Amino acid sequence: MPVKLAVRNVFKIFGERTEAALQQLAEGKTKEEILESTGATVGVQDASFDVGEGEIFVVMGLSGSGKSTLVRMLNGLIAPTSGAILIDSEDVASCGRRQLRDIRRDKIAMVFQHFALFPHWTVAENAAYGLRVKGMKRDERREKALKALEQVGLTAWADSLPSELSGGMQQRVGLARGLATEPEVLLMDEPFGALDPLIRREMQDELLVLQKSLKKTIVFITHDLNEALLLGDKIAIMKDGRFVQVGTAQEIVSNPADDYVAAFVADIDRGRVFTAEDVSNDPAAMKLGSDNAEDAMRAMEDLNRNALYVVDDKDNIAGVVTYQDLAAATLDEATPNPVLEEVMITDYPTVDADAQLNELYGAASGGLPIAVTDDRDRLVGVVEPEAVFAQLSGDCETDAECPSEDDDAAASLETPKTKEREDA
Ligand SMILES: Nc1ncnc2c1ncn2[C@@H]1O[C@H](COP(=O)(O)OP(=O)(O)OP(=O)(O)O)[C@@H](O)[C@H]1O
Ligand SMILES: [Mg+2]
Repeated sequence: MPVKLAVRNVFKIFGERTEAALQQLAEGKTKEEILESTGATVGVQDASFDVGEGEIFVVMGLSGSGKSTLVRMLNGLIAPTSGAILIDSEDVASCGRRQLRDIRRDKIAMVFQHFALFPHWTVAENAAYGLRVKGMKRDERREKALKALEQVGLTAWADSLPSELSGGMQQRVGLARGLATEPEVLLMDEPFGALDPLIRREMQDELLVLQKSLKKTIVFITHDLNEALLLGDKIAIMKDGRFVQVGTAQEIVSNPADDYVAAFVADIDRGRVFTAEDVSNDPAAMKLGSDNAEDAMRAMEDLNRNALYVVDDKDNIAGVVTYQDLAAATLDEATPNPVLEEVMITDYPTVDADAQLNELYGAASGGLPIAVTDDRDRLVGVVEPEAVFAQLSGDCETDAECPSEDDDAAASLETPKTKEREDA
């Protein structure tokens, strides 16, 4: 994925004695020590990261950690003390005024927590604000504003006044205002910070749905780790102006860099962070028509699983067979070598790969592995119920309960171990 935004060794020191402050930072002095001895405040220290096109990069940190300072530098609102901020390899930090103005007008939009809607303007006029600033004509402005309002689900309110809208809807107008200018980079500084928890969750989910078609490059600021983990393709955790950890949600939750991060991670809602994909195994499915009961039982023994899915030649699911049912049928004199169809359960649970773990809870309680399917209903993975519960409880870092990308147990169907046994 091409890099849209590249930040290189960016520092921001507020105050007069920036040189002295930088010097002391290099010597390993803390933000407090530097403030005390130089009077300068460290806003951001040595931030470096890349954001790929269409990615959501989330910056999370407590109040005063430097999030807004960072995002204002990305937008060219304030200049870094040192370092480079490249958008499409143009340096926002060092380019001329006119160039900066063009970049800000054409490429970037910013959505804030507290942005002002003009009370006497309609929702559509408010959404068109950025276009007005650009000098766009009225009709074209309205057309683009309506498109943006449609994206955030506010078409019906286009001609209402802001006062007729709830807080969540007003925040959507803010987002529509950002989207209307069709920016390539969207900067969002705590856009959902003022919303009630329920509305906030709704907005988070909606943003993710919207992003599937928008594919904007987004830098999203929050002080809520749950929000960060849910939204971020990558997440940076900031403390005293410094990135203490940058990684995916899974990396951060599974492997907090230090006690500071670990303390945040302890409180997160794991069921929203992890998805079916994160706990899914290779399907290791049996083939309808060619595999028999004995094949299926042997595969289950090798994989240490109680059940396996059966697929047709197009990888569409036919059903699921359990070891217990196969064993019973094999022992039954009437069906000494049963075909899979005879034993197969055709009422099985399925989920999408991106389903949150919370949504899998019910399906996992049934005891059968859950089939993970793609958008064409093909089997792409299976989730063992134990893996769901282990991941939800956070037990899986220590035992082998939760599969991960490098868990290739399923591949062992074809490993020498199996062959050896066949030879024996
Ligand atoms: N214009 C300024 N002049 C002096 N110091 C500033 C200025 N802006 C920010 N700071 C300082 O820089 C540090 C980072 O502030 P910043 O506003 O970026 O934090 P934040 O993470 O956005 O916090 P919050 O979650 O409260 O919005 C703080 O110590 C703050 O006091
Ligand atoms: Mg802030």
